[in-house]
Amino acid sequence: MATQRIDKLLTSMGLCSRKEATAAAKRGAILIDGVVCRDASKKVDPESTQISFCGQPVCYQTHVYIMMHKPLGVLSATEDREQKTVLDLLPASYRKRGVFPIGRLDKDTSGLLLLTDDGALGHALTSPKHAVDKVYHAEAEGLLGDADVQAFAQGITLRDGTRCRPAKLEIRAVREGYSDVLVTVQEGKYHQVRRMLASRGAPVKTLERLSEGPLRLDAALQPGQWRELTQEEIALLLAHHVT
Ligand code: URA
Repeated sequence: MATQRIDKLLTSMGLCSRKEATAAAKRGAILIDGVVCRDASKKVDPESTQISFCGQPVCYQTHVYIMMHKPLGVLSATEDREQKTVLDLLPASYRKRGVFPIGRLDKDTSGLLLLTDDGALGHALTSPKHAVDKVYHAEAEGLLGDADVQAFAQGITLRDGTRCRPAKLEIRAVREGYSDVLVTVQEGKYHQVRRMLASRGAPVKTLERLSEGPLRLDAALQPGQWRELTQEEIALLLAHHVT
């Protein structure tokens, strides 16, 4: 990897400001391969150098990958003048790194949302060519049945004439005028699941994404909570998506 200034590196990781890095270097709080570095402008290769900052080892990761349980009422965007976005739910250091949501969930949809600062992966995952199963749990008004399951399997035509790829509709329960269903799609058209169900006369009341490709929403995450992906999850994601 290319070398970069130690103060810039520490700042980009959200560990401190440039000024704090300079001050830490002056008081001997930055070690490079075990040796005190008093020059905050010194260039290092973070992949082959052991860095310690204020007594803590600095674990450099080229990219960061986050799983969030997106709550209702929050935009899948990096910023908005008036409304809260998913970036507002993360510490500021992630914004500084350039973290962004991979694709989007509607404001009124909750569930699994992945975020990263890995532009290439984000691009690959949101490309229309990229076919990965996304599973949603929906509560829809109306009684869905076998004819709807078949229509999904054949590929729904939306009310505006848009053709969707074949998808899976599983009916978990039908009661008191509502259908509790799982919908698996491989696309990410605008409001796709809502529009697919609406085209069958079953407007969505609640929608939650449960999984995307190999990753399932961690049941320990409450709405609004997040965590970084484990090394195993990152490997699964990259293996699944590298073309
Ligand atoms: N389909 C929708 O209609 N909304 C979402 O947020 C995701 C898929």
